[in-house]
Amino acid sequence: MAFVSRDNITEKVLEVFEKTPDPRLREVMRSLIKHLHAFIREVEPTDPEFERGCEFLVSLGQSSSEKKNEVILASDILGASTLITLINNIKRADTAGPLKTESALLGPFWRKNAPHYPDGSNISHGPESKAADQRFDVSGRVCDANGQPIEGADVDVWHASPLGFYENQDEAQPNMNLRGQFKTDANGHFSLTSVRPAGYPVPVDGPCGDLLRKQRRDPFRPAHVHFMVSKPGYQVLITQVFADDDERLHTDVTFSVVESLVGKFQKRTGPGETGYALTYDFVLQPGEMQFPTPPIP
Ligand SMILES: [Fe+2]
Repeated sequence: MAFVSRDNITEKVLEVFEKTPDPRLREVMRSLIKHLHAFIREVEPTDPEFERGCEFLVSLGQSSSEKKNEVILASDILGASTLITLINNIKRADTAGPLKTESALLGPFWRKNAPHYPDGSNISHGPESKAADQRFDVSGRVCDANGQPIEGADVDVWHASPLGFYENQDEAQPNMNLRGQFKTDANGHFSLTSVRPAGYPVPVDGPCGDLLRKQRRDPFRPAHVHFMVSKPGYQVLITQVFADDDERLHTDVTFSVVESLVGKFQKRTGPGETGYALTYDFVLQPGEMQFPTPPIP
C-alpha cells in the first residue's frame, strides 16, 4: 500500500469515508472532501493563512449567542443560504400544480406566537405609528397551486420599523410590535395595516462584519416584509416581499431578492390618502405542515 503523498491524499481520505454506513452522510462527506481538497490545491494557503481561516471559524461560534447566530449570518453573506432556498424552491415547484410562490430565508427575527388579530387590524403600536406618511396597508390572497382560494390559512407577518429595527432590537417599541397573525376568509383574502418598513444592516459587530468591511460591502438589506403562511395539509410557506422602489434590491447582503418576490409598494395618492399599499398573493403547495425552530424566543 502506498504511503501518503500530495498526489494521493484526496483519494486516501475518500477511501476511508467510503465505509460510512449512512448513505446520505457518505454522499455529503465525499463531495465535501472533493471540493475542500480542490479548494486547498487551488489556493495553496500558507500556514498563517490556514491559522487565520481556523480562527475565523472558531470566532463564528464564539460570537454566537441566544440572540445572534453568526454561523447562519456567515452562510447568508456567502450566498449559501439563498442557494439552498433556491434549489429547494425548484424541487418543491415540481411536486404539484402550475402556480407557486418562491420561498425566501426565515431570517433571525421570527418569533413564534405573534398576536392573532381580526382582519384589517393595525399591528403598529409603538412611536412609529404616528408617522402618517409611512402608513402601510397590506393585503393579499392565499390559494392553492390551481388558483383555488384557501380559507382559514394563517398568515404570520413581521417586519422592521421605519428606522430599520425589529421590536426585539428596539426598546422604544412594545413587545410583539409590527408582528401579527391573520386568518384568510372564504375568498382566501387577508388584510392588515402597519407602517412601512425600512431596510437595515445585518449585525456587523462580529467576524462577519469584519469580512464585509474587508470586502468593502454594503451590509444593508433592502426593505421587506416577512410572511409565513400555513394551513394543515400544506407545506409552510416562508418568504419575504421586497419594496420595488428600494435602491438596494440588487445589493442585498444576503442575496435574497428574486424577481418574483419584488412587491409593488404603491404610493397612495387619493384625496386625503397618505402612505403605501402592498398587495401580494401566496400559493401553498400540498404537503406536511412543518414549522421551523424559532431563532429567537
Ligand atoms: Fe428581515
